[in-house]
Amino acid sequence: MLHQLVYYSRNTVPGGDRAMLINMREILSVSQRNNSRDGITGFLIFDKTWFVQILEGERGQVTRTYDRIARDTRHAAATILNVRDVPGRLFPNWTMGGAMRTPEVQEVYLQHGFGGPLDPMRLTSEQVVTLALDLQAYEVSRRQGQKLAS
Ligand SMILES: Cc1cc2nc3c(=O)[nH]c(=O)nc-3n(C[C@H](O)[C@H](O)[C@H](O)COP(=O)(O)O)c2cc1C
Repeated sequence: MLHQLVYYSRNTVPGGDRAMLINMREILSVSQRNNSRDGITGFLIFDKTWFVQILEGERGQVTRTYDRIARDTRHAAATILNVRDVPGRLFPNWTMGGAMRTPEVQEVYLQHGFGGPLDPMRLTSEQVVTLALDLQAYEVSRRQGQKLAS
């Protein structure tokens, strides 16, 4: 059975943009290694204040992965927004895609009605998933653009 879990948490990574980027690179690289082993795919949205993550995969693996993540001291107060069975993966090509909120992706946020800072406490899991799908599409088209240009 394919499972999808959506949660948010408070980012406690100290330091400025640079420290944040270094930490995120590390988190994403460990995630990609573990998730490819465990059959987990998903997407991680983050800014300086929040993480919002979607995990999808086999039920037991999603639970184990979430339990491990929830204990990580780089964030706090992890809160599950939704867990459900899904007929297929929405992020099949990502062992963990990630998108930091930068001016470049602001347009995508605006399209979803998020002009100001993201407030996950007011988000539904459906809003998270549709935003992540558009961020994923943006990232894919950006990469294709780079390929064409090179
Ligand atoms: C916001 C956030 C998201 C994370 N996402 C994942 C993930 O998708 N998969 C994963 O294995 N670890 C993820 N981690 C890292 C785990 O908390 C943990 O450090 C890691 O799984 C330990 O892996 P190791 O036992 O191979 O060192 C995440 C951490 C944070 C702070």
